[in-house]
Amino acid sequence: MNDVTTTAPLESRAVPGAKDAATVEQALLSRRSVRAFLSTPVPHRDVERLLELAARSASNSNSQPWQVHVVTGAVKSRLTSALLAAHDSEGRVGTREYNYQPKPDEWVEPFRARRRKFGEGLYGNTLGIAATDSAARLAHHRRNYDFFGAPVGIILTVSRHPLDGALVDAGLFLQALMLAARGAGLDTCPQASFIDFYPVLRRHLDIPDDQLIVCGLALGYADREHRLSRYSTPRETVASFATFYGDPR
Ligand SMILES: Cc1cc2nc3c(=O)[nH]c(=O)nc-3n(C[C@H](O)[C@H](O)[C@H](O)COP(=O)(O)O)c2cc1C
Repeated sequence: MNDVTTTAPLESRAVPGAKDAATVEQALLSRRSVRAFLSTPVPHRDVERLLELAARSASNSNSQPWQVHVVTGAVKSRLTSALLAAHDSEGRVGTREYNYQPKPDEWVEPFRARRRKFGEGLYGNTLGIAATDSAARLAHHRRNYDFFGAPVGIILTVSRHPLDGALVDAGLFLQALMLAARGAGLDTCPQASFIDFYPVLRRHLDIPDDQLIVCGLALGYADREHRLSRYSTPRETVASFATFYGDPR
């Protein structure tokens, strides 16, 4: 086990835009879910370095329950083909390995309204797809399975023992990975859509049975000219979710 990071500094730091995200605040402010990537490859040692940085995340008693499966090149293409074949013929499996989100009619307020606003912003305003055009929506959704064109696809898993804490740790790892990527001028999109086809992932990747598939992550260089890159999501105010006690000055 390493006490400090050991891989080389990130090669990708030289790319335009990387310097802008080199502080934690800038990485947080500039991160967004990117759904259009350039095919420009990410050097393997940079992927390793990002994973090493993400592994600095806190975890329950330093248990580090995460694992990642990184796919590129021909393996990624084969996985995409298999996922799309399953998507187009079988549809998503009925029960996911874990309950990431409610069914569409089970969302409650205020989350239902926020979800609707997100959908309108992405499909309506950005892609120009009408709410009734389910074929066009599906065509966009299918792009999830080629990691939106990113050269690197990551499948994140965590130990099932004990699951609740491990899911928290997995979330921290995921966020750290996304911010580390930003600091290197790279972009990401977290993708729960993969868990709809977890049997395909298990067939193609060497995922131990005691690891639960949490989500996928696209990693690469954003295509900033693409119209999807214009989309950014709003946030609620601090006052809407924070309660302050004591005597704030
Ligand atoms: C665990 C997780 C899973 C997600 N799954 C998907 C997905 O399958 N496809 C997708 O396009 N976006 C996915 N998203 C992205 C969210 O839609 C996005 O984070 C949210 O709308 C806020 O936008 P932002 O990330 O650009 O700030 C996911 C996000 C998280 C955290």
